[in-house]
Amino acid sequence: MIFDILTLFPGMFTGPLTESILKRARQAGLIQVRLHNIRDWATDRHRTTDDAPFGGGPGMVMKPEPLAACIRAVLTLPPEAATPPPVILLTPDGEVFTQAIAQELAATERLLLVCGHYEGVDERVREALITRELSIGDYVLTGGELAAMVVVDAVARLVPGVIDAESVAEESHSDGLLEYPHYTRPAVWEGRQVPPVLVSGHHGEVAKWRRRERLRRTLLRRPDLLERAHAAGRLTPDDLAWLAGLGWAP
Ligand code: ADE
Repeated sequence: MIFDILTLFPGMFTGPLTESILKRARQAGLIQVRLHNIRDWATDRHRTTDDAPFGGGPGMVMKPEPLAACIRAVLTLPPEAATPPPVILLTPDGEVFTQAIAQELAATERLLLVCGHYEGVDERVREALITRELSIGDYVLTGGELAAMVVVDAVARLVPGVIDAESVAEESHSDGLLEYPHYTRPAVWEGRQVPPVLVSGHHGEVAKWRRRERLRRTLLRRPDLLERAHAAGRLTPDDLAWLAGLGWAP
């Protein structure tokens, strides 16, 4: 999968792309990340990419010409595809990024991620060239770069081969429930015991305990997710009976 990142600060991506799983995925050729400096498409002597807002007010706005030229140039890069890739702007007023969106994006061959900066991007570029707008949460960052890294990270790990398929299937949010608690050796640490069922060797009992702990944790921390899982028909009669015992009624 190819990620084309359009940014005024390509240097910000060095750390996340050169460590750990993203580094390995790149080396294995499972993902490719191409960085494009929007400033390279500015044509004036000072290579200007921003200007004061029409109508006045604080801050600066990203100018339409360099950004549009950059997006159009990147869209012409190989590989050619039957359908053009999504052009995604990272912006605090976008649709909130979720695991479901990560899964949807992981199914595409290529993504363009456009990092907004300053007070925002000239609205006409958004209308003309951006196909989707994503926010990583209800807070304001200094720019879209960290948000783009979050999207790359969450999507890349869903690309087949990047991490173990089983860990993707069982993790928090993958099926709308939070994850069960994890334990490793030693079996007793500072007087705290691992739940006995986990060392019992009964795989069926372990699976049942884990399912119940996922339900308990989701009920305590994110009851909104439980409502959604129920509405989507993802809770079994066993789940509902266990939840009823915990005092939850849909
Ligand atoms: N740019 C600034 N804040 C952002 C956010 N929360 N999500 C995506 N892009 C942003």
